[in-house]
Amino acid sequence: MILVQNLYKSYGNAEEDIVLRDVSLEVQKGEIFGIIGQSGVGKSTLLRCINGLEVFNRGKLIVNGRDISRLSDYELRHFRKDIGMIFQNFALLNRKTVFENVVLPMQCWGYPKTKMNQIAKELLSLVGLENKIDVYPNELSGGQKQRVAIARALALEPEILLCDEATSSLDPGMTKSILDLLRSINQKLGLTIVFVTHEMDVIKMICDKMAIITEGRIAVSGSVESVFFEESAVLLDLIGRREIDIPHGKAVVKLSVKNENILEPFLYQMAIELNVRFSILSASIERPNKNSFGNIFLAIPKKDIQTVLTYFNNRMITCVHYGLVERNIS
Ligand SMILES: Nc1ncnc2c1ncn2[C@@H]1O[C@H](COP(=O)(O)OP(=O)(O)O)[C@@H](O)[C@H]1O
Ligand SMILES: [Mg+2]
Repeated sequence: MILVQNLYKSYGNAEEDIVLRDVSLEVQKGEIFGIIGQSGVGKSTLLRCINGLEVFNRGKLIVNGRDISRLSDYELRHFRKDIGMIFQNFALLNRKTVFENVVLPMQCWGYPKTKMNQIAKELLSLVGLENKIDVYPNELSGGQKQRVAIARALALEPEILLCDEATSSLDPGMTKSILDLLRSINQKLGLTIVFVTHEMDVIKMICDKMAIITEGRIAVSGSVESVFFEESAVLLDLIGRREIDIPHGKAVVKLSVKNENILEPFLYQMAIELNVRFSILSASIERPNKNSFGNIFLAIPKKDIQTVLTYFNNRMITCVHYGLVERNIS
């Protein structure tokens, strides 16, 4: 659905004006793709390139089968119709009602009135605001405003929805309800969603795949569970490294588990089969209902280290001697 190849974007002629240096990524139809990176790395710029609002210097950008740099102004206008966008600040018109805000893009495209009203009503019911039709935006909560913005973004039946920090000004409860809504729209309508954020929790909650941007490049990309499974230095720079103190006289092993492994009673079985007295120092399992992933740190007697490593690795659970291996890598 979206193919970005070696994209360069600079806002001037100086070296420091280069924002995107060599960005390549691919988003499949129906996917929810997260792009994360620190503030100022060029996430919003990349989104604006994808929807044709920003020209780029070099590289290739094919969206929904169209090569953006070759479109005429007329074609670009039609192309943009297929892409909805929502923002951190909602970008609603405060002097217009909820209904009028949603209808606006359809008015611009000259939809007949009855069709327009029908679509707006359907969308407002889809986002759960059927009883707020005649209300003005300043009477709504942040989460409700974002729901209006989502309804408006869907008015022209886009194939792609671009979200630029769409939950960054919402509290955790509202963030969750907006993400649930986007996920259900993604499933109901088959909409492809690109979600740009600086918040990792958001990526973990909603995205299928993800990419991390640093210094104008995609440093890491893949399925969310594989990126967390691999725990690259780039990821750890972003989320922070874990502090695990190795208890005196013990060895620490790190288990990385995902998907089908997670529901297995593997710790219990290991303890019975090997008779190893372990304790848990830290454990996190993310998204137990989706493609899950997690890391578990166990303290075990030093004498058992080799048997434990062999036991888990024979069962397809990645297990390393933490403190020996891990610290050297990162
Ligand atoms: N229209 C513009 N003109 C000049 N510089 C810009 C413009 N828009 C963004 N920038 C610069 O490009 C860099 C990336 O900005 P942006 O894409 O907004 O990053 P992010 O969304 O990741 O925070 C920043 O250094 C910003 O100052
Ligand atoms: Mg931004």
